[in-house]
Amino acid sequence: MRIIKASDYNDLSRKAANIIGAQVIQNPRSVLGLATGSTPLGTYRQLIERFETGDLDFLDVSSINLDEYVGLGPGDPQSYRYFMNHNLFMHINIKPENTHVPNGLEANEKAECARYENLISQNGGIDLQLLGIGLNGHIGFNEPGAEFVSSTNCVALTESTIQANSRFFADMSCVPTRAYTMGMRAIMHAARILIIVSGANKARIVKEAFYGPVVPAVPASILQLHPNVTLIGDAEALSLL
Ligand code: PGA
Repeated sequence: MRIIKASDYNDLSRKAANIIGAQVIQNPRSVLGLATGSTPLGTYRQLIERFETGDLDFLDVSSINLDEYVGLGPGDPQSYRYFMNHNLFMHINIKPENTHVPNGLEANEKAECARYENLISQNGGIDLQLLGIGLNGHIGFNEPGAEFVSSTNCVALTESTIQANSRFFADMSCVPTRAYTMGMRAIMHAARILIIVSGANKARIVKEAFYGPVVPAVPASILQLHPNVTLIGDAEALSLL
């Protein structure tokens, strides 16, 4: 694993956008695995800036997002589809039909998981997967558990995740408790993984995930087994390494 220390959040975002940008320049038909949450926001702003200056072209790029809340549709400002549209897709020239997020409104969980899994294979897998890490070590919504789940699945979110996500909702009772998430196989089969972490509250889990045992109780620890992982963190997030 390559560890890159950023001086601050802005520097982290620029470095992450440089790596994603290089991927898109080298392969204009790249399949990008994308993430939501607070951490990637700066990276997305940087990608938009590079598109606006003419340095990046997303016309032939495809994207496959990690996850979506069950019950939330694209028009719901809390949905991850809405997040991606508003924080990235609407501001660059990626074709809407080439952007993929699980369908939170699909009530047939088995069908939606199978559809998403097929879609990942039809796209030939992921060239570069961008990841954040949850306070409990989740990647996507692969929550700590007794095993690593390999395919796209529908999960019950843990109390810690519901608590962490409640900052985006009016109150706790509005936070969805279930989500669709890409499984570990598609993440681990990505040709490259770029994981970004910011802030002192991530320091403990970063150390556990990358220097502790590889165990499903810390889902991100599986990344230790991937041959091409780059971790970019600010000084606070990397402070315990
Ligand atoms: P965050 O979320 O970027 O909002 O900290 C990361 C995650 O839960 O994967």
